[in-house]
Amino acid sequence: MLNNMEQWKSMAYRYQFALRELETKIMILNTEWTMDDGYTPIEHVKTRIKDPASILAKLERKGFPLSLESIRDKLFDVAGVRIVCAFVEDIYRIASHFKDREDLRIIEVKDYIANPKPNGYQSLHLIVQVPLVLHEGVTWINAEIQIRTLAMDFWASLEHILFYKYDKHVPSSILQELTEAAQAANQLDQKMLKLREEILSREESTLSDEFLRRKQTIGALSS
Ligand code: GTP
Ligand code: MG
Repeated sequence: MLNNMEQWKSMAYRYQFALRELETKIMILNTEWTMDDGYTPIEHVKTRIKDPASILAKLERKGFPLSLESIRDKLFDVAGVRIVCAFVEDIYRIASHFKDREDLRIIEVKDYIANPKPNGYQSLHLIVQVPLVLHEGVTWINAEIQIRTLAMDFWASLEHILFYKYDKHVPSSILQELTEAAQAANQLDQKMLKLREEILSREESTLSDEFLRRKQTIGALSS
């Protein structure tokens, strides 16, 4: 048992390190995007390690043996990162960037935006593996990256509170309202995306107006 505790400790460190590696990758990306575009799709990032009680509960629920090997090989969300961004299209921009990286393996994509859960839950989940360089060699650590908008995060955070308050038994009338609230969050996202497109197209036309004016000025100067 004591031996197991030591092994668990070493495993928990690995998950912590994998999260730090992921955080650093995201921080660099954030800075790079801000420098290049003056804008970053990433609003904020949170990381968490699943607590031991939830790990054991999940192993039991899924019928896996209660062992360190099961945790390592069967659970993919012991290390979790949540990236919250402004617009829905940012989610896919971030995900497609992750797909192109060599220092990240994407094991599975769960698109709960294209296919929301019955209660209305939306997010894009990437099950990934992060390489960890240890003195014994390179180990790939499982992690779950959840990418969502501020509106999706707002809904999911409140749903989480209600869910726990009702001890996992949400009355059907409340479930109905929750789903409606998720649709409202979705409409808000769509509206903001449309506004952004409108503003961007205005900026573009302002730019081309400016370009035409400059061209005319240059033309007048040379004639
Ligand atoms: P979990 O045992 O909950 O981890 O489920 P899973 O391993 O079958 O994966 P799933 O993709 O369903 O969910 C993974 C994670 O997404 C959860 O741990 C939550 O963080 C989040 N999530 C999924 N569904 C919901 C939901 O209905 N409400 C909220 N608030 N979060 C959700
Ligand atoms: Mg989970």
